[in-house]
Amino acid sequence: MNKTVVIYYSFEGNSEFVAENIAKLMSADVEKLQVKNEPPKKGLGKFLHGGKAALLKDDPGLFPLQVDLTAYDTVVMVYPVWAGTFPPAIQEFLKQYPFEGKKLCIVANSASGAAQKSIDQMKEILKNNTFCGSLSLQNPKRNEEKVLGQIREFVERLK
Ligand SMILES: Cc1cc2nc3c(=O)[nH]c(=O)nc-3n(C[C@H](O)[C@H](O)[C@H](O)COP(=O)(O)O)c2cc1C
Repeated sequence: MNKTVVIYYSFEGNSEFVAENIAKLMSADVEKLQVKNEPPKKGLGKFLHGGKAALLKDDPGLFPLQVDLTAYDTVVMVYPVWAGTFPPAIQEFLKQYPFEGKKLCIVANSASGAAQKSIDQMKEILKNNTFCGSLSLQNPKRNEEKVLGQIREFVERLK
């Protein structure tokens, strides 16, 4: 068995672009985390509501996962950085679907490119897995060609 699943959350499409391309290159299954409560799409409220929810670890009302994680030996986590950490959808996923003994890759997307803190936090929470590598991508949808190159290199290194 060498099956890979890409689990991701995306609020504005960047992590979706990244996750779908990684899944294609790795011939992996892919699942988008869906939640009931999200910040407003526009204005300052987006950052205030979203940032606060991430820091306070609010439960966003995660819909049940469709894939069965026990069927996979590699999990690739893809998410946007919110207030320096990962968004509530990812926090809630880690709480409800803890997994161990798998190969773990982490891909963080952000506006600043500063994602290491969130990657370290996730590694700590998922420490009972074998860490395979991480990738930090800056504004993927504004830099599609560059990011596709970074993704290709990352997937090659995992082989
Ligand atoms: C609520 C919120 C908080 C954010 N906080 C940060 C942050 O702390 N650092 C950063 O570099 N980018 C931050 N961003 C920007 C996103 O991480 C970045 O735009 C990312 O590519 C969005 O991915 P998505 O389109 O998949 O949602 C934040 C965005 C939102 C909506």
